[in-house]
Amino acid sequence: MAIDKEFIDQFVNVTSRAALASSYLVGKKDKISADKAAVDAMRSELNKINFKGKIVIGEGELDEAPMLFIGEIVGNNNDPEFDIAVDPLEGTNFVANNLPGALSVIAVSEKNNLLHAPETYMEKISSKVSENGVVDLDFSVKKNINNLSDYLNKNPENLTACILDRPRHKKIIDELKKLKVKIKFISDGDVSGALLVTDQKHNVDLFLGIGGGPEGVLAATALDAFNCSFQGRFLFKTEEDKLRAKKMGIDNLTKKYELNEIVSGDTIFCATGITNGDLISGIKMEGDKFVSETLVTHKSTNTKKILKLKKKIYRNKFD
Ligand code: FBP
Repeated sequence: MAIDKEFIDQFVNVTSRAALASSYLVGKKDKISADKAAVDAMRSELNKINFKGKIVIGEGELDEAPMLFIGEIVGNNNDPEFDIAVDPLEGTNFVANNLPGALSVIAVSEKNNLLHAPETYMEKISSKVSENGVVDLDFSVKKNINNLSDYLNKNPENLTACILDRPRHKKIIDELKKLKVKIKFISDGDVSGALLVTDQKHNVDLFLGIGGGPEGVLAATALDAFNCSFQGRFLFKTEEDKLRAKKMGIDNLTKKYELNEIVSGDTIFCATGITNGDLISGIKMEGDKFVSETLVTHKSTNTKKILKLKKKIYRNKFD
């Protein structure tokens, strides 16, 4: 059954309040407090909603996260039942150092329709082209660029690829340079990076590289609603990581996940800006009100929009 559109505004409110809470910590060089503020606000807003939400991607497992831990039930425990992936503060460095691009993010699916991603890295690729066989995680950089170039009828030098600026991406970056592809480097925040392919105005044709697995699932939810492509493959460093993934139900540790294996059915995705960024603007204060911008998708109603919200700031967090 589809997710009723009445939930859209409620989840926009959740990420907006989390973004607002974190925005007070912008430029304070305190990643932990900024994250905690977003987590507290998100949890408190989720618990006001009339539904049963199971956190499948959150702040960690019960023993390592007191709030929004994997398996925690939020809402008032009534039907409908949804699975929830959260990243209350995506881009802790951005908030700590007052840099562009921090987001508060949530993805909601019907029960059992979101991949339970362990806290590990994921090799990812996304593009605006959804047809199979154009862009693929198993293709070389050269083949992906040549295919994309043919498909979009653009020379490689007119294509732009977005990638996290990390030493681990040296080979990919060297190859992109050799092919004369323009590169948009991001210092953090690869949910936003992956989503830059969704709109022509960002001028990004391809996103690739290794980032967080949970962030991959969040981005995939929005990319699915935008009819863009996404594939991901988890990467595990230690035996302990592998064991943990197995416990979470991941049997094939080297599997390439297609978009429809990461997310299926109806979904709502909300990403509210904390600081201004490429995707959306950050929180602004107007007297006793705040203004937030949220990128929202709702698959079943084909909703894909940026929603501006102007709301009163609570007098205290228990209001
Ligand atoms: P945090 O918000 O948890 O700091 O994550 C930011 C981020 O840049 C993610 O967007 C990305 O997936 C991941 O970190 C990349 O990890 P690393 O910094 O280890 O390369």
